[in-house]
Amino acid sequence: MSVQSDIRRLTAPDIRARKGGEPIVVLTSYHAHTAALADKHCDVILVGDSLGMVMHGLESTVPVTIEMMVLQGHAVMRGSKRALVVIDLPFGSYEASKEQAFMTAAQVLKQTGCGAVKLEGGRRMADTIRFLSERGIPVMAHVGLTPQAINVLGSFRAQGREEADWAAIEDDALAVTEAGAFSVVIEAVAEPLARKLTERVPIPTIGIGASAACDGQVLVMEDMLGLSPRVPKFVKRYGDLGPGIDKAIADYAREVRARTFPGPEHVYPMKKK
Ligand code: KIV
Repeated sequence: MSVQSDIRRLTAPDIRARKGGEPIVVLTSYHAHTAALADKHCDVILVGDSLGMVMHGLESTVPVTIEMMVLQGHAVMRGSKRALVVIDLPFGSYEASKEQAFMTAAQVLKQTGCGAVKLEGGRRMADTIRFLSERGIPVMAHVGLTPQAINVLGSFRAQGREEADWAAIEDDALAVTEAGAFSVVIEAVAEPLARKLTERVPIPTIGIGASAACDGQVLVMEDMLGLSPRVPKFVKRYGDLGPGIDKAIADYAREVRARTFPGPEHVYPMKKK
């Protein structure tokens, strides 16, 4: 094998080996420039299907297509060097059969160069996860709140807030683990359940709205930067870029209208004769 770069990218087995160790930092990105920033600080960059809401203004992730994911996955790979890049399989591209899932995952990995796929679902996706994992496709599973199921769930509600609901989510986490997932996202579940899942499964749990008890955390970048108009309770805003961008655009518009931009320093002089 020829070596292409001095920097070695993290792999799914590297992340799998971090169970119980230093917390795993995961952040979404959909563009080359934000991927380069995330790459400096994060272990995993997730090209999430949340891009449907963030980039395209959709109401849910349901309409997201393979083409949307491939374009952004490719951009994130070009922008990053070190992080493992995991890409979501969009709704409708993998649920019908394990063969459909394999064809979609193979296409997405070939066309983007990403290192792993993520898919939603617990026990019902276990056979698919096993099929993919045994055929060279690392899978990050996703249990708890699964946003692609919004049309049957009715709303984005936290899961496992009553002990009676725990068994089903535990069975999901155990099933994806047993099927060969290298890690599992746990979304919007009560802290005691997240703790129990993290203790019970031997693969890293990546929490989003699931407390610090998990082995790692993931957030949507635009949510934590203060760019999203509405965010769930579990999002902490680490930045407030919205007002900064608003001001920059307002300043630009004012200067264009006043003809003070471009100034002499932004203009190409004629070549000296
Ligand atoms: O699409 C996404 O951004 C995700 C995270 C919320 C885990 O799946």
